[in-house]
Amino acid sequence: MKEIFSRASVRKFKERKVEREKIEKLLQAAMAAPSAGNQQPWEFIVVEAKETLCKLSGVSPYARSLAEAPLAIVVLANKKALKYLDYWQQDLGAATQNMLLEAVHLELGGVWLGIAPLEERMQYVSEVFNLPEYLQAYAIVPFGYPANEPKPQNRYEVTRVHFEVFE
Ligand SMILES: Cc1cc2nc3c(=O)[nH]c(=O)nc-3n(C[C@H](O)[C@H](O)[C@H](O)COP(=O)(O)O)c2cc1C
Repeated sequence: MKEIFSRASVRKFKERKVEREKIEKLLQAAMAAPSAGNQQPWEFIVVEAKETLCKLSGVSPYARSLAEAPLAIVVLANKKALKYLDYWQQDLGAATQNMLLEAVHLELGGVWLGIAPLEERMQYVSEVFNLPEYLQAYAIVPFGYPANEPKPQNRYEVTRVHFEVFE
């Protein structure tokens, strides 16, 4: 699948807005992800307001890309939806990665900004949106049209592959 091999994190974006249909496609891709027992413990906040994007960029020293992005999708866990308590981070990881791959397909770029399990970052996002206790921030993904051509790395390493046994 060419999107997997042409994806690279994009942290600088053109000023161009992301069309509403493309935003919907990103969200459809997220919700197409597998989840433990099909529990789908996700909620998404779509953010285009400059003021909110700037506030969110303060979540960590590594989130400055948010301040210049035209769009971000905040990926949240809905703790009320959990049937399998230990798997929510894996479920949301799959949803986040699906969005990043769909972004490539739509000629967009984005970068996964890690929030959970770091309490301080989760708390910061909760305060920005005044979230109820049962919603917890997992990741923030700024999206937009890449300012520069993404340069994917070939990380395939045959020595990491083990057939049948680990020697
Ligand atoms: C769990 C997770 C957290 C990450 N957090 C950040 C972050 O806070 N800021 C950032 O700029 N990139 C972040 N990244 C992106 C990684 O830096 C990037 O995926 C890695 O350097 C590999 O580069 P590539 O995505 O271009 O292949 C994160 C990625 C993951 C999977």
